[in-house]
Amino acid sequence: MRFHLGLLAICSVLVVASGSSRNLPIISFDEGYSQLFGDENLMVLEDGKSVHLSLDERTGSGFVSHDLYLHGFFSASIKLPADYTAGVVVAFYMSNGDMHEKNHDELDFEFLGNIRGKDWRIQTNVYGNGSTSVGREERYGLWFDPSEDFHHYSILWTENQITFYVDNVPIREIKRTEAMGGDFPSKPMSLYATIWDGSNWATNGGRYRVNYKYAPYITQFSDLVLHGCAVDPIEQSSTCDLPPNSESILTGITPDQLSKMENFRKKHMQYSYCYDRTRYKVPPSECAINPQEAERLRGFDPVTFGGGRRHHGKRHRRSRSSRAEASAI
Ligand SMILES: *[C@@H]1O[C@H](CO)[C@@H](O)[C@H](O)[C@H]1NC(C)=O
Repeated sequence: MRFHLGLLAICSVLVVASGSSRNLPIISFDEGYSQLFGDENLMVLEDGKSVHLSLDERTGSGFVSHDLYLHGFFSASIKLPADYTAGVVVAFYMSNGDMHEKNHDELDFEFLGNIRGKDWRIQTNVYGNGSTSVGREERYGLWFDPSEDFHHYSILWTENQITFYVDNVPIREIKRTEAMGGDFPSKPMSLYATIWDGSNWATNGGRYRVNYKYAPYITQFSDLVLHGCAVDPIEQSSTCDLPPNSESILTGITPDQLSKMENFRKKHMQYSYCYDRTRYKVPPSECAINPQEAERLRGFDPVTFGGGRRHHGKRHRRSRSSRAEASAI
């Protein structure tokens, strides 16, 4: 009973007007989250709202939201570890993998460290109902050094659309299509943040491993926003959803935001499954192919994105490494 009242209260204040995290309540760590692993490598700061996660030779660390959420806006301000960070992975993601081992849903931001500190890359990925054989990764560079300052990373998830934001700039939008079926995440998920040793795949497919000479690697989280419909993990019976009028607000990003997204992708996208002809002869149905993006990626890597002569050795190698990356969380 307590659960139903709580649910009502949460849903009645749910107004997701845009991808901005401004004016959304920032809750304290203890209110919204618990430690997932890592002993004292998780440290809550004095304000009760900021958290340090660190990785050293003993362990990484992480936290998870108390509740599962069906749709909403999820955001954190994150500062990544500086300097040499090869093999270090910081992940900010939603998942229900612990409850649905075979048919889980997942929405990921993954930050992949580098030998030259500031060249962090971000990867986003989506799984629905256990679609782990269909990788939907994209990778991007950034227009700033993410280890120098805090930046906002946000996930907006509604019934028909998923948008990833960096500093309120949409960088990726996935619109649900009929053909996606269960591949579009549709079951309640928890929010996670972790730091871990991804030596085997994170940096140049595992060529550069974590060097613990530079440990501890510390990543900082603040401005944690959990703005969704909380669902009881046991009952799972909620029909709670975004209020009817927000759906119309959320059917598309604004023209201004769209051009920002296109600019970002034209400049910073380094990999997208939608353009990877060695994996998908025909792009999956949700892919909106942009000729300029295609052109740029072809210039980057003619074999993967070209659709020209196929080299089988390369193909095999790439699909293996993609799978490794895909199953890394
Ligand atoms: C999800 O997967 C389960 C089992 O694999 C299947 O029974 C169910 O129909 C799928 N749901 C959707 C929405 O595709």
